[in-house]
Amino acid sequence: MTKIIQADAAAIAKAAVLIKEGGLVAMPTETVYGLAGNALDGKAVARIYEAKGRPSFNPLIAHFASVEEAKTCAVFDERAEALAQSFWPGPLTMVLQRAQDCAVSELATAGLESIAVRIPDHAVARDLIKAAGVPLVAPSANKSGGLSPTAPAHVAASLGDKVDTILAAGKCKVGLESTVIDLSDGTPVILRPGAITAEDISSVLVVPVHYASDSGDIKSPGQLLKHYAPDTPVRLNAVDVKAGEALLAFGSIKFMGVEGGGHAIDLPSESLRNLSEEGDLYEAAANLFAMLKELDCPEHTAIAVMNVPNQGLGIAINDRLKRAAASRTMAS
Ligand code: TXA
Ligand code: MG
Repeated sequence: MTKIIQADAAAIAKAAVLIKEGGLVAMPTETVYGLAGNALDGKAVARIYEAKGRPSFNPLIAHFASVEEAKTCAVFDERAEALAQSFWPGPLTMVLQRAQDCAVSELATAGLESIAVRIPDHAVARDLIKAAGVPLVAPSANKSGGLSPTAPAHVAASLGDKVDTILAAGKCKVGLESTVIDLSDGTPVILRPGAITAEDISSVLVVPVHYASDSGDIKSPGQLLKHYAPDTPVRLNAVDVKAGEALLAFGSIKFMGVEGGGHAIDLPSESLRNLSEEGDLYEAAANLFAMLKELDCPEHTAIAVMNVPNQGLGIAINDRLKRAAASRTMAS
């Protein structure tokens, strides 16, 4: 049974321990309840996707307790500084360039060069972040496709045993997810409308700011999402390795051969990664983007990827692999 616990100091301290152990905690924010996990722990991030039943890995928002901490993970230009000063803590998420030594899991940012950051306007959320001592990634605490929860009972009804504890602090003040503004390249664009409006943001930046959905170029909301795309072609469902290819393995490769002779296991280390030797989908998800990047270099003619079972978290892994394989032929 999932425990709904009143979010007092003792409950927050216990929840912080759970987070440090890789657990998932539903936390109140001013917008909606979030399903929080350690942003630095790839396996915890994989558990979040699995708990939500997300069929793909949408990048997650990293939540911080202070601007100083956010700056260790994201690059703040003048615009970001100004918006942080005006609207944080509050329902504004900024998509910024990922900082060079940002330690957030590649799975949480879906392999992108950018990262979404925000400071929630809720003391419980900030106290939990401080007590855990790490940034927390937190999508809305509901099953994918369901309504965002604005009260603890909604979380319990939607996620049940998938969440280790629910920190209860009544109803959310705003009740709608944060505004997401993309400042990662050139013109600022609002990717998701929220309580902070285009006018609010324009008045601080002193430039007009538009909603992405206003643009005639965008045909469906799904196209708003950027995808990580390796430069090297990706070959799926590989049962062997061709000359010049790198191998992204899953499970045992004891019996896998290299075309023209030899064993996959003897490939040079720069050409071989294993998502999970034990065939653990959580471990595989946590490794996915980092390993694709490591194998993505001009020395390889392609990245051969072994079959990943299409169940549970495997569905999201395969979704991303398919996009990576198709990216060179698809319009960006
Ligand atoms: O109010 C909120 O933002 C809540 C609370 C819990 O903080 N969280 C939330 O998270 O709504 P989620 O995962 O449901 O929504 C995150 C949004 C998605 O639309 C995602 O595509 C976008 O932020 N996003 C995250 N990282 C991004 C990135 N690097 N580039 C573009 N969009 C990004
Ligand atoms: Mg959501």
